[in-house]
Amino acid sequence: MAELSDIVAEARDLFNSIKDSARLEEAKAKFLGKTGSITEQLKGLGKLPIEAKKAAGEKINQAKSEIEVMLNARRDFIESEKMAARLATEALDVTLPGRLPQRGGLHPVTRTQKRVEEIFRSIGFDVADGPEIETDWYNFTALNSPENHPARSMQDTFYIDGKDSSGKQLVLRTHTSPMQVRYANIHAAKYKGHDPMPPIKVIAPGRTYRVDSDATHSPMFHQVEGLWIDENISFADLKGVYTDFLRKFFESDDLQVRFRPSFFPFTEPSAEIDMMFTEGPNKGRWLEISGSGQVHPTVVRNYGFDPERYVGFAFGSGLERLTMLRYGINDLRLFFDGDLRFLRQFS
Ligand code: DAH
Repeated sequence: MAELSDIVAEARDLFNSIKDSARLEEAKAKFLGKTGSITEQLKGLGKLPIEAKKAAGEKINQAKSEIEVMLNARRDFIESEKMAARLATEALDVTLPGRLPQRGGLHPVTRTQKRVEEIFRSIGFDVADGPEIETDWYNFTALNSPENHPARSMQDTFYIDGKDSSGKQLVLRTHTSPMQVRYANIHAAKYKGHDPMPPIKVIAPGRTYRVDSDATHSPMFHQVEGLWIDENISFADLKGVYTDFLRKFFESDDLQVRFRPSFFPFTEPSAEIDMMFTEGPNKGRWLEISGSGQVHPTVVRNYGFDPERYVGFAFGSGLERLTMLRYGINDLRLFFDGDLRFLRQFS
């Protein structure tokens, strides 16, 4: 029979050579299992005479507990090695900067709209919003647009399947001008019986639609409508207000502005507003920026106001146009492609 000290030494060597817990449990069986060498020793006790039994039993039990201590120590060692390896591979560098959430930004046209609103608010204008699906009345008729106007053609305008209460087909508004009438109607109802009527001073920015698509036209675009109606608002006020607006918007006092005679059914007289930069890449070029005019008496009547008494001006400007000039953008389609490389430049 093997010496107990040899068995203990064998166990020590074997345990120390093992690196995973499953194999360690197998090795345990070799000594402490049913047919393990320590178990065999205990079984052998029976053959010994009574006197020898006690001493031998003590020795075997001592060897057994030595082996158990070594086994537990090895178990702990294997576990802590495992943990150390895990900590090494799953290490977190807590000093790394965190991942920032992606931040959105305002679209350049939205920036322009906000800027326009801010400037007009600062001189006492209200800011109004209205529907993009319009009736024939507000989009055309109330604005003195003749029945045979090309804008009423199916080819020039987006019509909607639905009809309004008078049976006319609904339309995606082709300009923000219907907001003149909508806003003025509410104003007239609200101040009914007031003498004089409080003035109307409003801008109405928003989306507009036309069947048009190239580098400078998009089927959906933005306009801002302006309207100032009172007992004595003249074309001179239009010139003053609009010129001042452009100078504030472009942050340039050297800007040249001219009012070029034109025609719109809802204004008389009518003018295109052109502007010229006196410096920068567009220096010396006249650029059309807005339609405008003294509101036509028929339209003032449709507001619910007496055209003999109330007069004023209106204008309608393209927000994309203002944005392109402000940032030096040459293709309108960039606004609608959703390309982050373009959009990030504005946030
Ligand atoms: N609604 C016109 C358009 O879309 C622009 C315009 C011209 C608006 C003259 C006005 C105005 O208010 O007075 O082309």
